[in-house]
Amino acid sequence: MKKLKIGVIGAGYWGPNLIRNFSACPLTEVAAVCDSSPERLDAIGRSDGHLSLVGSLDELLEMKLDAVAIATPVSTHSALASRCLEAGLDVLVEKPLAASVLEAQALVDLADRCGRILMVDHTYLFSGAIRRIKELIEGGELGDLYYVDSIRINLGLFQRDINVIWDLAPHDLSIVDYLIGREARSISASGCAHADRNIEDVAYVNVDYDDQFQANIQVNWLSPVKVRQMIFAGSRKSLIFNELNLTEPIKIYDRGINLNDGDEERHKQLVSYRLGDVWSPHIDPGEALQGVVSHFAECIRHRQTPLSDGRLGLRVVRQLEAATRSIRAQGGRVVLSHGASANGHAAPREVGPDQRSPAGAGRNGRAKRPDVLLR
Ligand SMILES: NC(=O)c1ccc[n+]([C@@H]2O[C@H](COP(=O)([O-])OP(=O)(O)OC[C@H]3O[C@@H](n4cnc5c(N)ncnc54)[C@H](O)[C@@H]3O)[C@@H](O)[C@H]2O)c1
Repeated sequence: MKKLKIGVIGAGYWGPNLIRNFSACPLTEVAAVCDSSPERLDAIGRSDGHLSLVGSLDELLEMKLDAVAIATPVSTHSALASRCLEAGLDVLVEKPLAASVLEAQALVDLADRCGRILMVDHTYLFSGAIRRIKELIEGGELGDLYYVDSIRINLGLFQRDINVIWDLAPHDLSIVDYLIGREARSISASGCAHADRNIEDVAYVNVDYDDQFQANIQVNWLSPVKVRQMIFAGSRKSLIFNELNLTEPIKIYDRGINLNDGDEERHKQLVSYRLGDVWSPHIDPGEALQGVVSHFAECIRHRQTPLSDGRLGLRVVRQLEAATRSIRAQGGRVVLSHGASANGHAAPREVGPDQRSPAGAGRNGRAKRPDVLLR
């Protein structure tokens, strides 16, 4: 079977990982690398001398390709992906899919119209650990999920076109989307900017899915230590995923509370604690990005919808945009009303903190703001 010819666009920090994985995949070969920076092309030429190197998309589109992978800054994803889809190519775009809901929705629609595959590299969905966590959740090991708490912090690579939420939270949002299969209902976020006054480098995001399940995501580029930890708390057991623990990244705790029937007054006596075993399941050690490129190739061959398709990418972008809106509105909740509008776009609207909780949730002492329909 002939290998699929892939063009990789963007060879900065992440692009070389795509080049390495597409080169290693038995189904694909890297036909060319495109980067607008001559210095980056020189660097690729030194490490992978056999690859064709081009400096513009026009040159790349003159080559005979089956598909492209785009690993350029987020602000360029929409224009580059659109041109490739229109040129009849299947497209893998790095996370996040695009820089706005409008751009992301337009890409999903364009891929549909052109009959092309649009996949987003939400890498974690292809990691052994997240796959195992999905099996455990679906097998009922954790019971009902109560919440997800994620901390994703380190001295990060500062981006010029996106804030820390757009850089790091796509991982958490795509993981939760994949694991629980429910759409977020509303988002509230707070954050602050230090290195560049317009780009938040520290942020806290709260996503609510329904009355009994929330995700809390802490992301920042200013932490002196690197932490990559997610807690999945359930009614039966809880799980901690620490991806920096290479030997035991997942630990399952048979710890929690037992609830007995009774009235409010006796509430305290009705909650008892369960302190049981802790165990660590075996995890497939394969590289997640190899799973991404193999899945992309399989979807191209069999014309199948990818697991992390444009629609999943769009749901993530919708939440990223809502989180940034919320920060601009000092933490006001942004309601995600899925499918409410005629054109299928969710129309986020901001709800003042006081409206959500009569007890005065939101920042201390802040005057009640009027509710604003942002779109
Ligand atoms: N999946 C992951 O875990 C992961 C990890 C890191 C980065 N990423 C994503 O990868 C993408 C790129 O991030 P990065 O850190 O590699 O950025 P980067 O700035 O290091 O590299 C981007 C490269 O794109 C090139 N470029 C810019 N505009 C171009 C254009 N119009 N045509 C051709 N080349 C162009 C630049 O010259 C640069 O070499 C982002 O979307 C980022 O979110 C994903």
